[in-house]
Amino acid sequence: MNIKNFDNFKQFVTANGCKRCIIRCDLNLPSDIEDLSRVYAIKDTVLSVAGMGLQVILISHYKRPKPEDVGNPKFSLEQIVPSVAKVLGRDVAFEKRSIFDIEPNAITAPITLLENLRFYEGETKNDDALAERLAQFGDVYINDAFSVSHRAHTSVCAITKHLPSFAGLSMMREIEGITQATENIKRPYTAIIGGAKVSTKIDVLKKLSLEADYLVVAGAMANTFLAAQGHDMKKSLIEPEQFDTAREIMANANAEIVLPIDFWVSQNVETNGVHCDLANIPDDCGCFDIGEKSTARILEIIDKSHTLLWNGTLGLFEFANFNYSTERVSKRVAERTKNNGLISITGGGETIASLGKYKSDMTFVSTAGGAFLEYIAGYDLPGDTALKA
Ligand code: 3PG
Repeated sequence: MNIKNFDNFKQFVTANGCKRCIIRCDLNLPSDIEDLSRVYAIKDTVLSVAGMGLQVILISHYKRPKPEDVGNPKFSLEQIVPSVAKVLGRDVAFEKRSIFDIEPNAITAPITLLENLRFYEGETKNDDALAERLAQFGDVYINDAFSVSHRAHTSVCAITKHLPSFAGLSMMREIEGITQATENIKRPYTAIIGGAKVSTKIDVLKKLSLEADYLVVAGAMANTFLAAQGHDMKKSLIEPEQFDTAREIMANANAEIVLPIDFWVSQNVETNGVHCDLANIPDDCGCFDIGEKSTARILEIIDKSHTLLWNGTLGLFEFANFNYSTERVSKRVAERTKNNGLISITGGGETIASLGKYKSDMTFVSTAGGAFLEYIAGYDLPGDTALKA
């Protein structure tokens, strides 16, 4: 899809003498607020726009407040302001008041962040009245939040009806980065999909099972695939309601589906794992990581791949005793990317956290979770469609 990009923005601003720019960012940071990837993502756009002499109005949602949470500091973007100011190296003013209680022209700071958009009932409803009011705070609009572009929300879609609208630099980088795994793919193409639940990734699993050369299913969702084949996964997390989906994916796949054949198992996550084969999982244990043989097979597949897409961890990486496979796979993907030209594309909050020191070696790390999966699954994202040229 051809979307109005940042060059188009610059031309428009110069031709029309715009003074104020609204930038939709995604400051919905992980709960610990330590991973600032989403703040770094907007830095280039914000500084370029400010450098052009425009006043910047930053807008974002934060978490999913219920009506009774409106005004609760736990859901306020005020707590993110110091991080944004630090990353940008600029002062960032914060406007706590409702946009209906302030005059748009009363905002004078060069860079101002408005309060959590989800404090307005209309935000998640793509409400036109809210969009019209929000639009009064700018002369032009940029969406630099790929990670929220799968939401048809007011600040992503409806606002584009009221202002000339363009994609920011981070939005363009995300689309170009992820497209390496959806168009003109360099094969062999391997997808590694992990995480807990099949139910959250059905569409992406279906698509990749048709398009990849290898589809590695790992994490707890592999238990569901194996149980659907008739294996007794003992106390492991499984989703029986997804057995039919798992069977359908396996029956129709063009890709070779790679499932684990051994595990690190335990009665609970606090206890060290015991290594065992698929057929020998003790009755009182669950699988918390995939084992040595399964990991070795994945490393072999990585070695012969030209493109690799990765979303979801292979085991419970946050517990050192169950980080065996995720650590080794991260290291190998990083090495192959650095030394052998592997194109590695990863995304999703947990996946990024699990990469640790190997993150910087990946070809592209998306800041998106849900949007990343929807884009890979082949959906047009409403936020991108709204910026169509
Ligand atoms: C995300 O974290 O994936 C985005 O910020 C979207 O958040 P949401 O799932 O609450 O809409």
